[in-house]
Amino acid sequence: MNVNIVKGTHDIYDDDARAFEYIEMVLKAVAEMYSFQQIRTPILEYTELFTRSVGESSDIVRKEMYTFLDKGDRSVTLRPELTAGVMRSIVTNKLYATKDLPIKSYYVGPAFRYERPQAGRYRQFNQFGIEAVGVTSPYQDLECIMLGYDALKLLGFKNINLKINSLGDQESRNKYREALKEYFSKQIDNMCADCKERFNINPLRILDCKVPADQEIAKNAPKMRDYLTPEAKKRFETITNTLEEYEIPYEIDDSLVRGLDYYSHIIFEFHYTTENGLNVGAVGAGGHYDNLLSEIGGPALSGVGLALGIERLYAVMKDDNLLKEEKLETDVYVMPIGEDSIKDAFGVAQILRANAYKVEICLENKSFKQLFKRAENINAKLAVIIGENEIKNNEVVLKDLHTQKQVTIPLKNLLGTLDMMFDDKEEEHDHCSCAEDIHHE
Ligand code: HAM
Repeated sequence: MNVNIVKGTHDIYDDDARAFEYIEMVLKAVAEMYSFQQIRTPILEYTELFTRSVGESSDIVRKEMYTFLDKGDRSVTLRPELTAGVMRSIVTNKLYATKDLPIKSYYVGPAFRYERPQAGRYRQFNQFGIEAVGVTSPYQDLECIMLGYDALKLLGFKNINLKINSLGDQESRNKYREALKEYFSKQIDNMCADCKERFNINPLRILDCKVPADQEIAKNAPKMRDYLTPEAKKRFETITNTLEEYEIPYEIDDSLVRGLDYYSHIIFEFHYTTENGLNVGAVGAGGHYDNLLSEIGGPALSGVGLALGIERLYAVMKDDNLLKEEKLETDVYVMPIGEDSIKDAFGVAQILRANAYKVEICLENKSFKQLFKRAENINAKLAVIIGENEIKNNEVVLKDLHTQKQVTIPLKNLLGTLDMMFDDKEEEHDHCSCAEDIHHE
């Protein structure tokens, strides 16, 4: 019986794995451009961390966490996102006291949510994210949005749809919550079971309900922006004015509340639709938080962060043909001819690898047809062919797999010849024509 892959998880291999690596490399480079440093936190955390940060009223904590008791009967959870772990690390390691503020961290890694799997939604997925902790300026919020925007641009995204909203400060939210309670109290009996629960724990969550009839009711609910205190309103306007100054298009979405409980002030999501109309939901999202660090036992420092979903970035980039260059290229395919040549060919391959060439070798006795088929499949540029005669004469046959020209050269000249050819190629940005180069030697 086959053992199946866990529902909602997926394997990433070959060109796809390279594409993931490429995306992560660009994102890391952008984070470093903005002077963020890498942080790696455990995948496994005590469950309490997430109930206290992501929040009891969030769908993530209520329904989606991979939570279990370990052998010591402690409740642990596979992280559903990485922000909470970063905050825990800041507290555990007292980074707020030992490091200069702000603490600016970026991360890449897997997260787990027991969601209903569909396009762009997995139970194990990868996030890249940043957190800046210890600055109150709205410009820190802006820097975070701009970092996300720059990253998407660098990955080749053209029409980025940035949705923003403000959840204001505590006072704004208290007033707004009252207004929502009053509005929904007349309709709640006709709404879904989840909304009834949300009504009691956190009525803001009702605005996030995906049931069409409930969405219809929520449409006419009071708007957060009408309940912002003057300070919260000013902060939001600083952000919108600056986005306009920098010509970053945005849309204020009154229904945007975000699925995690720790936010205050600005919240945002990046959406994207491909030329073929593929839309996998938000490719990234984030926001400002005032109480997150103190909720988990740290000092009262506010912060802002953003996370991008690598699977979603990959899906839309693939659909828009933004990943076409991502192929592994092999420099040399070493082809032993006959069983007896494998040992010598193996030695040649190891020498080439020690000199930084990307080398594959055939370790079985294969026909020429099979060998050349494989060379084509692995995108090899050159073949080094080694048979009984070559071994006897201390030679190898070097074949350019693009031009099909080949020459026999002394084994001792192989490295020098390759070095010269690969150097030339870098200068010319051309396919190599090794046979001619060797003749000119
Ligand atoms: P989030 O909106 O829950 O925010 O997730 C951020 C991104 O992760 C989403 O926009 C999406 O691209 C990706 N994502 C989420 N769930 C899935 C899934 N099931 N499958 C595939 N991709 C998914 C956060 O996680 C916050 N920690 C962001 C943040 C950082 N806020 C402040 N700092």
